[in-house]
Amino acid sequence: MSDARTPWSGRFEHTPGEFQQAFGASLPVDKRLYAEDIAGSIAHARMLADRGIISGADATSIEEGLLGILKDIECGAFTFSIADEDVHMAIEAELTRRIGDAGKRLHTGRSRNDQVATATRLAARRSSLELAGRVNALRETLLHLAESNRDVVMPGYTHLQKAQPVLFAHHMLAYSWMLARDLDRLKGAYASSDVMPLGSAALAGTTFPLDREAVAAELGFGSISPNSLDAVSDRDFLADLVYACTLGMVHLSRLAEELILWSSEEFGFITLDDSWSTGSSIMPQKKNPDFAELVRGKTGRVLGDLTALLVTLKGLPLAYNKDMQEDKEPTFDAVDTYGAALHAMTGMLATMRVNAERMRSGARGGFMAATDLADHLAERGVPFREAHEIVGKLVLMCEREGRTLQDLTVEELRAASPVFDQKALDAVDIDAVVARRTTPGGTAPERVAEQMTAAREALERDDAWIEQCGSPEE
Ligand code: ARG
Repeated sequence: MSDARTPWSGRFEHTPGEFQQAFGASLPVDKRLYAEDIAGSIAHARMLADRGIISGADATSIEEGLLGILKDIECGAFTFSIADEDVHMAIEAELTRRIGDAGKRLHTGRSRNDQVATATRLAARRSSLELAGRVNALRETLLHLAESNRDVVMPGYTHLQKAQPVLFAHHMLAYSWMLARDLDRLKGAYASSDVMPLGSAALAGTTFPLDREAVAAELGFGSISPNSLDAVSDRDFLADLVYACTLGMVHLSRLAEELILWSSEEFGFITLDDSWSTGSSIMPQKKNPDFAELVRGKTGRVLGDLTALLVTLKGLPLAYNKDMQEDKEPTFDAVDTYGAALHAMTGMLATMRVNAERMRSGARGGFMAATDLADHLAERGVPFREAHEIVGKLVLMCEREGRTLQDLTVEELRAASPVFDQKALDAVDIDAVVARRTTPGGTAPERVAEQMTAAREALERDDAWIEQCGSPEE
């Protein structure tokens, strides 16, 4: 039997054993919420004093005590004890040890249920913003790659078979738009965290005349929750955040897969920097894209985090249930993993070498001008399905003879269809193939240039949003 202190010892004749303490504790996971817990407590104490619920002197000593604890935690001078179930109880117990009775008044009109929900929302809001910063750093790197490789042509693929040539910049920008949507999802997660549950107490509200609006303003929350039962049992904001992390990871995983393929000898489109590669313990020649593989691999775990969180919530009756303590481990894992993966992808892309010549020569093979030859016939009145058939036969012929479409003479083309004219020879030029794709959103250089401008404007708008949320006082 241990000498565990609990805030409910009045009701209990026995204290929990060591196993029960360890099994019941969330402290190892939630101690990272210390700053959010302290901020919430200071705002609560100030409001209690303003409303005359505790004395001004008590509020001052609570605030000073909490700031002392904050400082000690930050410089590593604070020892957490597993006897305190969670970070909230650890801090309150220490506060009472330091300042006596005033510390015991802090919990007036409050429950751990609304306290936990408040600290977790503050943390989720901050994480959304920090992740948004990292997403934008990666978008910046993608835009830089696009802007500094404007003329690089590469093969575009469907089914991983060569399809039509595209600009490398177009390919990089595709990812920048995926990341722009990832940022929107983080904005959504930020917005759903931006509602303050404090004042809901255990589940039904409290008898004390709390000023919830004042606490929300002090903590920078956009609004207060409208229903106390919902407030203490809602973890949608975490599901939003973890989903944003999950889909963000899925996008990074697709990009990672391309880096892995492209850095193989067979593709050779890019060379990863040594600092973002590893060697082999047995094969001296190896240079492996481990970091990209890890981004791809960790995506599975983050997807598991989302599943764990949603399954935890699905069977819970209102209001708080202890199951909800399991919300933080997957959330923090998803946030940390996604943050690290964004950092790794930014590092890899910023330092990799783009092998423009390899990409261009790859774009020459694979009969990638075939659609344009068919379009040439269609523009001259041949029904497209027929044109497709005619060019298909030419491809088959070239394949048998080991030639390319660019090797064909006008005579050979005209033998396949008299509709072909001299211009067909220009139609198969790879740069011309790219340049003709002028539909909005297409890969023609002028369309890609417009896209670059739009992508940069979107990035600047999102940077401004981060800036504005990061300093709500201004
Ligand atoms: N440590 C718990 C959590 O993170 C807080 C418990 C709150 N309430 C309770 N009645 N046990 O969810």
